[in-house]
Amino acid sequence: MTSESSPHWRFVRGLGTGLAASAILTLFAASPALAQEVTFAKDVAPILYENCASCHRPNSFAPMSLLTYEDARTYAPRIRSRVKARIMPPWHVDRTVGIQDYENDVSLTDEEIETIVRWVDAGAPKGDEADMPPLPDLLEGGAWQLEQRFGRPPDLIVQSTPYDVVDNGQDQWWAPSVPFAGLEEERWIKAYEFKPAWPLGLRVVHHGHAYLRAGGRQIGLAHYGVGKRYEIFAEDVGMLFPAGEAEVTWSLHYFPVGISVPQDVVDVGIWFYPEGEKPKTETRGEVLLRADRMGGMPRGGDILIPPHGQQVLQGVHVLDQPTLISSFRPHLHMRGKEMSLEAIYPDGRREMLGKVSDYKHIWQIAYQFSADARPLLPKGTMLLLTSVFDNTAANPLNPDPEQWVVFGRRGVDEMSHMWVGITELDQEEYDRLVAERRAKLVSEEEQGGTEEERR
Ligand code: HEC
Repeated sequence: MTSESSPHWRFVRGLGTGLAASAILTLFAASPALAQEVTFAKDVAPILYENCASCHRPNSFAPMSLLTYEDARTYAPRIRSRVKARIMPPWHVDRTVGIQDYENDVSLTDEEIETIVRWVDAGAPKGDEADMPPLPDLLEGGAWQLEQRFGRPPDLIVQSTPYDVVDNGQDQWWAPSVPFAGLEEERWIKAYEFKPAWPLGLRVVHHGHAYLRAGGRQIGLAHYGVGKRYEIFAEDVGMLFPAGEAEVTWSLHYFPVGISVPQDVVDVGIWFYPEGEKPKTETRGEVLLRADRMGGMPRGGDILIPPHGQQVLQGVHVLDQPTLISSFRPHLHMRGKEMSLEAIYPDGRREMLGKVSDYKHIWQIAYQFSADARPLLPKGTMLLLTSVFDNTAANPLNPDPEQWVVFGRRGVDEMSHMWVGITELDQEEYDRLVAERRAKLVSEEEQGGTEEERR
């Protein structure tokens, strides 16, 4: 990026805020020399294609496409404000505490944000057509996102039964149980993808779960939320799909956004390990941890947020096995503001693993730790969940600060849950992974930083 290298820019910033600076800014913005400096073709299109186009494309759940110069120019002021405030791309992890190393981090760097801001301030110039990058290679609407990754369509697809989503502005639930023949032999799941129908289903399925019953066992087969679509388990880690007659029970939460969607169906695709291959470690995938005392629907009796008030709730979950944590995904509703996951180690040390400080109910993002950053926690560690609710008028998503708010399934009621990617390890595997990670850290230190830092 060119943003830091411009001497003009440094000079202007050096003047600080105030009239003089803005006067000079205006001057520069009007100057063709500087206008050429940051252009759509050369500087901005690559950022949008890389970080925005997967959602902002025709027929997606995002409100507009940002593929062409004309599109981007039309929305330039809004792009500027959303990007500058870090509202877009959607990524709500607190950047000041906890682990910062995520494999699905879509947030922009400070340089990228500055480039976009300068481009808009300069009048959003197009630049030289010859500098335009090729259009990004986007998946076709409705394609399996993991098909590219694995080089084949799913090995097994299960489907919900049709549901008529009515446009009445109310939350709707659909929970059919769908029996099917199942597998003749047990298999190990490497990955799953939860795929709402394209294009309309994608806009009305807020979140959903598919629970599998087979061979006398029940597993959480697949979990979805806007912003979280699939899980790929780590190397040598898998989830067992038992043999025999099977049934999938769906729990789909629809939220109509001004459209009716008749006969909506959701697909889950499964990719297995090769036949006969058994991964070393069995995972539970995303597991629901609660910070409300919900012993079963319909009560989380401890949620009671007064009008114009706030509430903090905490919940503790003790790990009775050594555990690898691969992701966390807060689930609050419209008054939800923050949720964090901390570890309290058996020796009393306390460590923030991850914190979302800017929670937004429409997004259900699973924050996936990078392989080397996944917390490896000894047996006896406590996971401490903390949720903060804001029922004041200052919360922009608050539908009505005059209401008392209690537990409930509707978006206007509250919950305090977190889905955590949990893989329980035996002691030997835990010791091996800890030793492996230590060795890697030591060797990185000897070589003067991580591979990335040395580059
Ligand atoms: C994961 C999907 C996703 C990604 C990635 C994403 N957006 Fe969005 N964007 C959305 C959705 C959905 C909305 C509407 C809901 C909302 O505002 O949160 C939205 C809203 C917006 C809006 C407000 C539109 C309006 O109607 O006012 C702007 C501007 C925007 N995005 C720009 C961007 C830019 C620029 C990027 C990349 C730097 C980006 N977005 C990345 C999904 C995405």
